[in-house]
Amino acid sequence: MTRRMHLNLFIQSRGHHEASWRHPASSPLALTDIRYYQDLARRAEAGLFDSIFLADQLAMGEDGAAAGRTWLEPITVLAALSVSTTRIGLIATASTTYTEPFNLARQFASIDHMSGGRVGWNIVTSWAAAAARNYGGDGQVSHADRYARGEEFMTVVKALWDSWADDAIVDDRAKGLYARADRIRSVNHRGEHYKVAGPLNMPRGPQGRPVFVQAGSSDTGRRFAARHAEAIFTAQMEKATAQAFYADLKALVVAEGRPLDQALILPGLSPLIAPTEAEARRMAHELNDLTDPEIGRKRLSGRFGGHDFSHLPLDKPLSVEDFPDPGTVEAARSRTEVIVGLVRRETPTLRQLLAYLAGARGHYVTAGTPEQIADLMVEWFKDAAADGFNVMPPLLPSMLDVFVAEVIPILQRRGLFRTAYEGQTLRDHYGLARPASAF
Ligand SMILES: Cc1cc2nc3c(=O)[nH]c(=O)nc-3n(C[C@H](O)[C@H](O)[C@H](O)COP(=O)(O)O)c2cc1C
Repeated sequence: MTRRMHLNLFIQSRGHHEASWRHPASSPLALTDIRYYQDLARRAEAGLFDSIFLADQLAMGEDGAAAGRTWLEPITVLAALSVSTTRIGLIATASTTYTEPFNLARQFASIDHMSGGRVGWNIVTSWAAAAARNYGGDGQVSHADRYARGEEFMTVVKALWDSWADDAIVDDRAKGLYARADRIRSVNHRGEHYKVAGPLNMPRGPQGRPVFVQAGSSDTGRRFAARHAEAIFTAQMEKATAQAFYADLKALVVAEGRPLDQALILPGLSPLIAPTEAEARRMAHELNDLTDPEIGRKRLSGRFGGHDFSHLPLDKPLSVEDFPDPGTVEAARSRTEVIVGLVRRETPTLRQLLAYLAGARGHYVTAGTPEQIADLMVEWFKDAAADGFNVMPPLLPSMLDVFVAEVIPILQRRGLFRTAYEGQTLRDHYGLARPASAF
């Protein structure tokens, strides 16, 4: 069978550009209005996207007053989207550091039932230091501790999702038998971080368990992804690093004894699309003119775990020495490597760096015609840099609409993207096996 591209729509704010929320072409709806998310999910479904995805941070962030964020709690939003769409996959972020496995297993199993098997879970350990202070801690939980807790968390939730056999429910009114007790069993997990008796108080979902999505890119993060993830998001600034990441992760997946095609790699792509290249570049400038470098500076500090960049002039070329060593960063370590790598290669000024990060926070940003965007996607797909893309439109819904109307048909004509949904579940769309029950 021909290998096909997979597309996820990453919904954030009124688009991924930092200034999207105040751009006249972005949605007029409030970011707390569920109709905004319903509308986007329907547009993505009309474009035959595999899935939509919502990120989540468990703290307000220092730039709240100056930034239009996606505020609603993502699992709650998925509940609404599960009844306003019928085919598209629905992926929400939830944290292994700041939630209990039993809560999380119930919530995702519920959405899987409600959506007819379309749920995915973006597994995060929550890198933002501010999150700890909302959950009884004083400061950052270390990178190593977060991943160690995350491993045990996975053991518990997998056991919970397997605590009912697929045939446990009988629902026989005449015999008075609802479920077979011998097909439901306890979990009895007692580990370093969690004690969970189980079973889950809910039957197994249509997909067995949610599709596991993950985006860790540090060494520890990659090993975690290779063990668990079925779709892997990643931020890459150029094709060469994306290829290296792809090769490394696929090798780790094989080393874990898993089939290559059961772990899809989806780099972020934020395309500004216009009928001519000149017009696309003009739009990029227009958006950049709406950004405030001082907000960018605060965000950069958050990425580096609160490091102080206030003394750096905006217009002097940066050097690697202006940044802490990524290996010492306890926040999102791999993203700091991406940023320091860019500084090493291109020695931008702080203003130039912040303008680049304003586009999509370190994901690949490009501006061009529909043909140019499609060519780039095909090149990455064919050259083993991607199994598809995490599409991050800079402006919503306008740049999603152009992508669906202009770019997707090109991919379809080249036989690289579906022309109709072929299955019902998110596992069907991504070509992922349904996990066998542990029974
Ligand atoms: C597309 C994408 C989406 C992400 N979404 C979230 C999120 O919603 N919440 C979060 O805490 N981290 C999120 N992350 C961060 C990752 O979970 C991870 O912490 C980060 O990539 C750094 O990985 P590392 O800690 O292994 O270096 C996201 C990363 C990517 C690439």
